[in-house]
Amino acid sequence: MSKLKIEGGNLLTGTINISGAKNSAVALLPASLLCFTKSKIYKVPKIRDIEYLLKILKILNCTYEINNDEIEINTKNLKNAPIPEELSEQMRASYYFMGTLLGRFKHVEISFPGGCNIGARPIDLHIKGFEALGATVTKIKNKYIIDAKELIGTRIYLDFASVGATINIMLASTYAKGETIIENAAREPEIVNVASYLISMGCKITGAGTSTIIIEGGKKLDNGVTEVFPDRIEAATYVILGALIGKDLHIKGLIKDHINAVLIKLKDVGASFTVNPGEIIISKCEEVLPTKLVTQVYPGFPTDAQQPFTVLLTQANGTSTITENIYESRFVSANLLKQMGAKTKSQKNILTIKGKTPLKGAKNIEVPDLRGGAALVLAALIAKGTTTLTNISLILRGYEDIVEKLTNVGAKIEIIE
Ligand code: EPZ
Repeated sequence: MSKLKIEGGNLLTGTINISGAKNSAVALLPASLLCFTKSKIYKVPKIRDIEYLLKILKILNCTYEINNDEIEINTKNLKNAPIPEELSEQMRASYYFMGTLLGRFKHVEISFPGGCNIGARPIDLHIKGFEALGATVTKIKNKYIIDAKELIGTRIYLDFASVGATINIMLASTYAKGETIIENAAREPEIVNVASYLISMGCKITGAGTSTIIIEGGKKLDNGVTEVFPDRIEAATYVILGALIGKDLHIKGLIKDHINAVLIKLKDVGASFTVNPGEIIISKCEEVLPTKLVTQVYPGFPTDAQQPFTVLLTQANGTSTITENIYESRFVSANLLKQMGAKTKSQKNILTIKGKTPLKGAKNIEVPDLRGGAALVLAALIAKGTTTLTNISLILRGYEDIVEKLTNVGAKIEIIE
C-alpha cells in the first residue's frame, strides 16, 4: 500500500493553481445523463472520484471523450441499469444517479453505504424529495429501488439545507411535470454550478444560490455545456497552508467570494494576505491568535475546511474551540494530531485545541477521511522531522495532483511504496 512521506519545515513559496471542484464535478457528471444526445463539461479535476463516475457512465452505455480537463459525454445510447455496489460504495456522491435516472427513466436501482468517518450521513431528505415528486422508494438492506409512474412538480421544504438533497431533487424535478419549488435549499456554489449546467440544457431554473429554487420541469434537455467552478475547499486548504508556512505563496484560480468565511477567520487569528483577482497571496502568520470557530451551511464557515483549520489553531497562543454543526463527528483527524504533539480534546461536537504546540513528525498515521487527510498533510508540512501517512487514496480522491502542487512550491513530499 502506498504511503505519503513528508519532511516538514520548508517555507513554501511560488504558485498553486486551484483545480475544478470535486463536489461540483461529482454532481455534474451524473447530471449529464439528463441530456438526450450529448453534453460537455470543462475543468474536470483528474481525481479518483471522477474515474469511478466514468465507470458508472460506461455501465449505463454512455461514451465519453476526455481532452485534457474537458469531457464530452455522449448519451445517445443511454440504457438504464442497476448501479453496481462495488462502484457506488466507493463514493457517496453516486447518489446523484438517483435523481438523474429517476428523472429520465422513472426507475432506479442503486446500492450504497450509509455512514463514513464523519457521521451517519443518511439520505432521508433526498428520499423525501423523490416521494414528494410522486416516486415510491423501497430499501432492501442497502439497495434502493425507486419507481414512479410519473413525476409531478411540487413544493418541497428541506428540514436541513442539505447540499446533496437540494441537487438530487433539482435533478429529478427537471423531468417532473410542472413547477417544483425547493424551500430551505442549500446555497453552496455547487448548487449554482449544477443549476447553470441544467439551464444550459434548456431547463428553466431560478433562485439557485438562494434558499428558494424554482424548477420548471418536463422539457426534453440536451447539449449541456458548463465549466466546473474552482474547488473552494482545495483553495481554503492551501490558503490555510500559506498561513502556516507560506512565503508569498500564491493560490491562483480561485473565486474569493466562495471562501469569504475562511478568509474572515484567518484575519480573526491574525493572518494577513493580499487579494488579487482570482488569487490570494499569503505568508506565514507569526503570531496566531486563538479563536472560536463554528461551522455552518454556506455562506458560513465550511465544515470541509474545519479539519485543515484545526492545524493552524494548534499554533495559536492560547485555547481555541471548534463547534461542528454539520456532522455529528468530524474530529478523528484532530485526535490523530495528538501523535504529532497537538493538544486537542473533543466532547461531542465541540473540539478544544490548546496552543501553541510545536509539532513533530510521526510514522504511519492512517488517514481517516478526505479532509482529515488534508489536515494531516498540513501538519506534516510544519512538523519537525518526517511523517508517513497511510490509506492515502482518501486524499488523492479529492485533491488533484497534491504531491506535484506541493513539490512545486518547495515541499518535501513523495509517494512511497
Ligand atoms: C456535501 O455532502 C459534500 N459532499 C460534503 O463534502 C460536505 O461536507 C457537505 O456537502 C456539507 O457541505 C459532496 O458534495 C460530494 P449534506 P452532502 O447533505 O451532500 C445530514 C468532502 O469532504 N443529512 O449537506 O452529503 C448529513 O448527515 C465532503 O468533500 C441528513 O440528515 O452533505 C450531514 O450531517 C464531506 N439527511 C448534514 O446533513 C439527508 O438526507 C450535511 O449533509 C442529507 C444530509
